[in-house]
Amino acid sequence: MSERRAVAVVDTGAIERNCVRLRRELSGEAELCVVVKADGYGHGAAQAGDAALAAGATMLAVASAGEARELRAAHPQAPLLTLGALTDAELETAIEARSEIAVWRREFLDAVAHHGRRLGVRPRIHVKYDTGMGRLGERDPRAVAELTRAAAASDDVELAGLWTHFATADDASSRFFDEQLARFEELARELRPEHPGLVVHAANSAAALRAPASHFDMVRCGIAAYGLDPFNADPRARELEPALELRSYVAAVRRFDEGDGAGYGQTWRAPAATWVATLPIGYGDGVRRGLSNRGEVLVAGRRHPIVGTVSMDNVTLDLGPDGAIDPGEPATLIGAQGEERILCEEVAAHLATINYEVVTQISPRVPRLYVRS
Ligand SMILES: Cc1ncc(COP(=O)(O)O)c(C=O)c1O
Repeated sequence: MSERRAVAVVDTGAIERNCVRLRRELSGEAELCVVVKADGYGHGAAQAGDAALAAGATMLAVASAGEARELRAAHPQAPLLTLGALTDAELETAIEARSEIAVWRREFLDAVAHHGRRLGVRPRIHVKYDTGMGRLGERDPRAVAELTRAAAASDDVELAGLWTHFATADDASSRFFDEQLARFEELARELRPEHPGLVVHAANSAAALRAPASHFDMVRCGIAAYGLDPFNADPRARELEPALELRSYVAAVRRFDEGDGAGYGQTWRAPAATWVATLPIGYGDGVRRGLSNRGEVLVAGRRHPIVGTVSMDNVTLDLGPDGAIDPGEPATLIGAQGEERILCEEVAAHLATINYEVVTQISPRVPRLYVRS
């Protein structure tokens, strides 16, 4: 019998090996920044950060000031970068956490300088060039150059980096990726000689794996560090090792006669006599309701279809007419049992989403159990 109704087992050794594998890929002197936002893509930011640093990553990145504050508590010395937009109050929090800050407007640069003076620190800033993502960053390269020069001339901030973010790096046939890269390269070539030591960075996992020309001085990898495939294919094809398994157990097994129904709305009825298992895990744990009557779960080393509606705390499986499994049997919703394996990418395909969303939605109700293989 499992000790927990549901658990996410995170192998920090796998995260370490994925980071080593990513570093092997890097061209020249490029360094690895590992993105641990959204609680390390559901894996645990502090633990993922530990594994990344042990594997030679030189920076950790988060999206928000709150994440920077939490990560700073876990990693007193690690260089941190906050990637996202910050309100004035959040800016103060991020500076207090000694995070490096993303900047793309003059007014914001002034606010960073103001808070830095007040707090007695000289924040390191990374100027963001929007080369086409159309979300955050300055779109006009002349304005980016001007902001970079203003930051370099300031006594109150330290110019640390110039960066951009790709919109279509995961689409191997994308021409837009090449256009963004060309725009960024052009400005980086202009600004580098004026600013020795400027850390130029652009690549996410997909770009890092497909385009060495995008590596510059640093890459910012999230998904691949967790052993998930940025192209939503099988991670093993790129020598990535999934670090997370989502497990539960069979809490009840019932005999169903033909026509018996399972779960809310009775959306599934047994087409013939069978055995149905109930697992005590549901959408309250991040097993999405969209998996109702689709997707499979491993029990006793075999795949079994999810039948009926996924409820908040339970999922039902059709074990088949010979499937009289004893309660207590382990169930694997993401991960391996023997030779069988359910990839996060497979679950994502059932939900018409991406692996990123599947792991970040495993809820806080699911305890994370850390192992290091
Ligand atoms: C600005 C930025 N850089 C890097 C990353 C890491 O991307 P990935 O997880 O695809 O490696 C993200 C993640 O969304 C991001 O927002």
